[in-house]
Amino acid sequence: MNDTSEYEIRLANTVAILEKIASEFTPAVFASSLAAEDMVLTDLILRRQFNIGIFSLETGRLHKETLAMLDKIRATYAVDIQLFKPNLDAVEDYVRQHGVNAFYDSVDMRKECCRIRKVEPLNRALKGKKAWITGQRRAQSATRTELAVQEDDVAHAMQKFNPLADWTEDDVWHYIRSNNVPYNALHDKGYPSIGCEPCTRAIQPGEDVRAGRWWWENPESKECGLHVVDGKLVRIKAI
Ligand code: ADX
Ligand code: SF4
Repeated sequence: MNDTSEYEIRLANTVAILEKIASEFTPAVFASSLAAEDMVLTDLILRRQFNIGIFSLETGRLHKETLAMLDKIRATYAVDIQLFKPNLDAVEDYVRQHGVNAFYDSVDMRKECCRIRKVEPLNRALKGKKAWITGQRRAQSATRTELAVQEDDVAHAMQKFNPLADWTEDDVWHYIRSNNVPYNALHDKGYPSIGCEPCTRAIQPGEDVRAGRWWWENPESKECGLHVVDGKLVRIKAI
């Protein structure tokens, strides 16, 4: 259970960051995976009418429960999330050359699939923007323990904000439940972290929250290329 006053301070800080982004960094966009953290930010942005666009990378391999979030968001907020999809030719080439599930074959094959289905569409989504926002938290993984609230995203030549960097998982669920925020049904089925369907499994009690992501790989390779820090994919701290 969280200390309520500390939660209120973290929430107020997050709102202040969103205010700053909306007033000083337009055009700014929020990248939503439609998972729990991202629904907190979606709710804050849409209810408070911050001038921040919201998009999602529709990789073509998402769970039906994740895609159902698009309708839930429309029903709750009367807003359509902008979707960025992979280049069809690139997907077809990859599948023709390597097969439909080649990401299980090697880390390189997996990263190439993420590059085509996530990273290239992300670059398109960020074109012409001054800042982008993510729902990453420090507590999510060993690769995120040093996550800053504001980063200089050299790769995209813009500022990157992680307004939930210091939120706990309890904070996220407290916000969702106390504000009646719609959330992905997979969270109630053992999926604390949700990516593409073939690359995400449910976790067992006691397992790391990202244990179900690319579960066949080593922890240090488990990022998809969306988050580049100092020219490197991720910063690793001792696990
Ligand atoms: S990641 O390894 O897939 O990047 P995670 O699922 O923990 O990790 O997501 C971290 C953040 O990356 C999300 O809060 C969101 O901002 C962004 N993100 C991840 N997947 C997507 C997606 N499909 N569309 C848009 N943003 C995404
Ligand atoms: Fe491809 Fe899996 Fe990456 Fe999705 S998470 S883009 S299916 S390798």
